[in-house]
Amino acid sequence: MELLEQASEYLRTGRLVAFPTETVYGLGARADWPEAVARIFQAKNRPSFDPLIVHFPHLEQACEWAVFDPRALKLAHRFWPGPLTLVLPRLWRNGQPRIPDLVTAGLDTVGVRVPAQPMALDLLRRVGLPIAAPSANPFGYISPTTSDHVRTGLGDRVDLILDGGPCEVGVESTIVDLSTPRPRLLRPGGLAREILETELGESLEYAGFAPPVRTEAPGMMESHYAPKIPVEVFEEVHSLRERAIVLKGRCVLLSTNPLKDVPCFDGFAMGEGAAMAVSLFATLRRLDNPESRQILALLPSPVGLGLAVRDRLFRAAASRVG
Ligand code: TXA
Ligand code: MG
Repeated sequence: MELLEQASEYLRTGRLVAFPTETVYGLGARADWPEAVARIFQAKNRPSFDPLIVHFPHLEQACEWAVFDPRALKLAHRFWPGPLTLVLPRLWRNGQPRIPDLVTAGLDTVGVRVPAQPMALDLLRRVGLPIAAPSANPFGYISPTTSDHVRTGLGDRVDLILDGGPCEVGVESTIVDLSTPRPRLLRPGGLAREILETELGESLEYAGFAPPVRTEAPGMMESHYAPKIPVEVFEEVHSLRERAIVLKGRCVLLSTNPLKDVPCFDGFAMGEGAAMAVSLFATLRRLDNPESRQILALLPSPVGLGLAVRDRLFRAAASRVG
């Protein structure tokens, strides 16, 4: 049987399939079966209060599971397929929500998206069912941007891993909550905030990164995207340099552009704009070995995809605090 056909058969019968999206690899199960969804939480060791994003091959199908108002339709038409998740009211039929509580962590809203990745779209079209898929990594660790990352992290806890090559965007989707009168940015991601605001014609409310844990988007808690070795983040190069001197250079550096005159084992420049998002997670994984001792990261400015990269670096660092 062709691999994609096998994958869709697995999903239909309640098994787990990891698949590429343009943002990160997802760990998929059919969203309308709590038994199938429960296996996602098990495989990832994910707490059940953290809701999942549901994936569709096109807007028309998503409209059968969530309630789209004119704002939601506008954003979906403009940005789907693409790295944008919309949080919308769940659709009810015969006194039941169509998307079960286990997917939404009991919330009356559901996160929905149409990914821009040919293999993902082909799979979703074949299955013809809503597919719940968080990032395909053990809970709290760095998200996977290659099928090898998935295999390393989840191995035989997944029934099938599809390989679509490295992800083109490299950070997760931007999450916008449209279930309230004022649209809110819940997670900065692969679609820049400025582009969304221009399309909406209004600004997005955004709480920013503010530990301790905010409960309305539980996945955005502190201990996320975290390497095993310590990460420290800096707004300015001179404070990073001072820290590196205190550490006697027993550290590796992460920044958009190469840093000069900072003592270290090694330094990695991610580049600017979309390039830094593409390489962020793979670079964090590469640096995440005991010889690096510690990662010192210079935060990019909060413009374009810089907002998402800052957010992920803050969270990678925050897991060490308290
Ligand atoms: O790019 C992505 O979005 C990837 C790919 C696989 O599509 N998925 C992803 O899923 O990043 P995950 O589980 O790692 O992050 C989902 C996060 C949750 O942790 C939560 O913060 C938010 O989405 N979320 C989902 N449903 C929500 C809801 N109803 N209300 C508020 N936040 C929600
Ligand atoms: Mg995740």
